[in-house]
Amino acid sequence: MLVSAKEMLTKAKEGHYAVGQFNINNLEWTKAVLLTAEELKSPVILGVSEGAGKYMCGYKTVVGMVNGMLESLKITVPVALHLDHGSYDGCLACIDAGFSSVMFDGSHYSIEENIAKTTELIKITREKGMSLEAEVGSIGGEEDGVIGMGECADPDECKMIADLGVTMLAAGIGNIHGKYPENWAGLSFETLDAIQKKTGAMPLVLHGGTGIPADMIKKAISLGVSKINVNTECQLSFAAATRKYIEEGKDLVGKGFDPRKLLAPGFEAIKATVKEKMELFGSVGKA
Ligand code: 13P
Repeated sequence: MLVSAKEMLTKAKEGHYAVGQFNINNLEWTKAVLLTAEELKSPVILGVSEGAGKYMCGYKTVVGMVNGMLESLKITVPVALHLDHGSYDGCLACIDAGFSSVMFDGSHYSIEENIAKTTELIKITREKGMSLEAEVGSIGGEEDGVIGMGECADPDECKMIADLGVTMLAAGIGNIHGKYPENWAGLSFETLDAIQKKTGAMPLVLHGGTGIPADMIKKAISLGVSKINVNTECQLSFAAATRKYIEEGKDLVGKGFDPRKLLAPGFEAIKATVKEKMELFGSVGKA
């Protein structure tokens, strides 16, 4: 059964480790993440962006697929199904479809509007026993070929949103989605430290987990990060393994064109990436 992310993140914050959110795109992705979590006895969060939700034929299809896998793969570790960077309406749709967690990304609104909409969603998610992630300070990334640098959130605004009673808080600390540019300044630990001091026990979320060096990940966890989102890195390892299979001509040998064979190296590559991240984040054995 899907669970809210509240308990796993409270434990992670207290235990000084982080739970990974791995974004899913299809059946292979979902199966790879769930099986790795079970093998490593790690709690896990499956992230679904609005775009990926649409790609997978809607949130209800995603809920059906994930619930089916929890049963057929006999998954015993805690699993949350979480909307990533949701709009207000996207959150309502996922709550209705049976997700166990949602993120409302109100970072592009004024702080007043972010507070108003987050407050509404706290009421609704609480009634359903779901977790809610909010965001302050936008997270950079590539849009139309231009890489926007991540903003640093205002610690006082973070406190305002945390005090509303969200489950976990994403705050920009110079992190960005996708690959980091050569001239990236690194995470702002000064900002993270100030946010953690103001928000106390609130589990903090680090987006843009792809490409952040291991020492920075460890330092971020020591300063209160308890959830780390990874998306692009699984896509890169899936693509590299699939490319290798085809470049070696394996799809042309026997029944190598069968999707169950063609997608197998990519599936194994996702598993390896997820394993590496769970070991780095310290969530292995914490289920
Ligand atoms: P990356 O794609 O950089 O790993 O970021 C993932 C993320 O933060 C999803 O919200």
